[in-house]
Amino acid sequence: MRISVIGTGYLGAVHAAGMAELGFEVVGVDVDKAKIASLQAATMPFYEPEFEPLLEKHVGGRLRFTTDFAEVADADVHFVCVGTPQQGSSLAADMTYVDAAVDAIIPHLKDGSLVVGKSTVPVGTAERLAERIETLTPDSVNVELAWNPEFLREGFAVQDTLHPDRLVLGVPSAGAEQILREVYARTIEEDRTPVVVTDLPTAELVKVAANSFLATKISFINAMSEICEITGADVTLLADAIGYDDRIGRKFLNAGVGFGGGCLPKDIRAFSARAGELGAAASVAFLAEVDAINLRRREHVVELVRGQVGGLVGRRIAVLGAAFKPNSDDVRDSPALSIAGQLHLAGASVSVYDPKAMGNAAKIFPTLDYSDSVEECVHGADAVLHLTEWPEFRELDPETLGGKVAQRVVIDGRNCLDREAYKAAGWTYLGLGRS
Ligand code: UDX
Repeated sequence: MRISVIGTGYLGAVHAAGMAELGFEVVGVDVDKAKIASLQAATMPFYEPEFEPLLEKHVGGRLRFTTDFAEVADADVHFVCVGTPQQGSSLAADMTYVDAAVDAIIPHLKDGSLVVGKSTVPVGTAERLAERIETLTPDSVNVELAWNPEFLREGFAVQDTLHPDRLVLGVPSAGAEQILREVYARTIEEDRTPVVVTDLPTAELVKVAANSFLATKISFINAMSEICEITGADVTLLADAIGYDDRIGRKFLNAGVGFGGGCLPKDIRAFSARAGELGAAASVAFLAEVDAINLRRREHVVELVRGQVGGLVGRRIAVLGAAFKPNSDDVRDSPALSIAGQLHLAGASVSVYDPKAMGNAAKIFPTLDYSDSVEECVHGADAVLHLTEWPEFRELDPETLGGKVAQRVVIDGRNCLDREAYKAAGWTYLGLGRS
């Protein structure tokens, strides 16, 4: 079986390499020439653990990358993996890239092939695209469209692609289901991955429902954080205590500066926008509050800093972390960068350090200062902000760090530094939602 993957961002590039690892002949296609040149040279264009070895293993063998859409012509299965970012002028998803990708492959589709959407899209998209394919392909060419949402997490993308925790196959026919079962045969057999077979709208909704639930869980604990701050309670202990209940679970209950990234924020907004179009705005009205709680945490950190160091103008603030989460160089909607930017705009002198995301951060926030090391970043700082929980930040020695700063003030935006060790070294330690 030959596979094409349209769109080579975090999702598509890793999916293409994963499909090659599973034994298929794969071509990855994108309009971005620089990205394709990098992938074709087996160099990852973004940071993702375990990804580059897969490229090195398969590029030049059964995996290739190209900007020429005609090269998808001999593929039996076409995965559409392009982005659906938030529109500039509304909360809705921008469908330009999905529509363009499908239009670009339509002239090259062969009889019996299957187009499989993986992008996160507004419910109803699959049906619309299926009609478009039906209309624009000749009568002699029968092509079906399925939806197979992707749940990979950045930082674990390779593992999540090769060993997903579930497969959702939104299919129009038994034939389409059979093709997708062949694609994923190895994980279905070896990992006994649960397979949920659905219609198209259910498959589309599964993805936005999953991300909405995760975002809600994080905002729930951050709302508790706000109450803990008023009452003198400790949100980390509260999360442990409620997390022991199997029905609740401890995962995604880490209170802090909240969620960011290329998925959760824009997915809950796009879901709200789509629900509005469907006349069901009330059903997901709570998502606006989930969003608001999340953004409030960022403002809260800015206010904490202001209060702690006595104003912001001219204060030196060290920000540890720029990526939206550790093990990633992705800065899209990053809480860390958002806070750094707000402090800078309020007159503080902000220095940022991140092990992997400096280049991406400098592109979107060129006016911040970027340091080459933690030591340089914290030098002379009036406050140190821990905003992305990279393991190397947790391992810092509070005593050594204390020797570099002007004031021993640390705000732990991820609640995972060793509070007692910082206090013992004479630091004023402020966690979020902790007295
Ligand atoms: C998410 C979904 O998890 C994944 O299934 C989907 O395919 C894409 O969107 P990702 O964006 O990689 O994946 O990040 P995720 O690990 O979900 O974290 C999202 C954000 O939530 C990060 O900013 C993270 O720091 C934050 N987070 C996570 C918390 O603030 N608290 C938590 O307890 C967990």
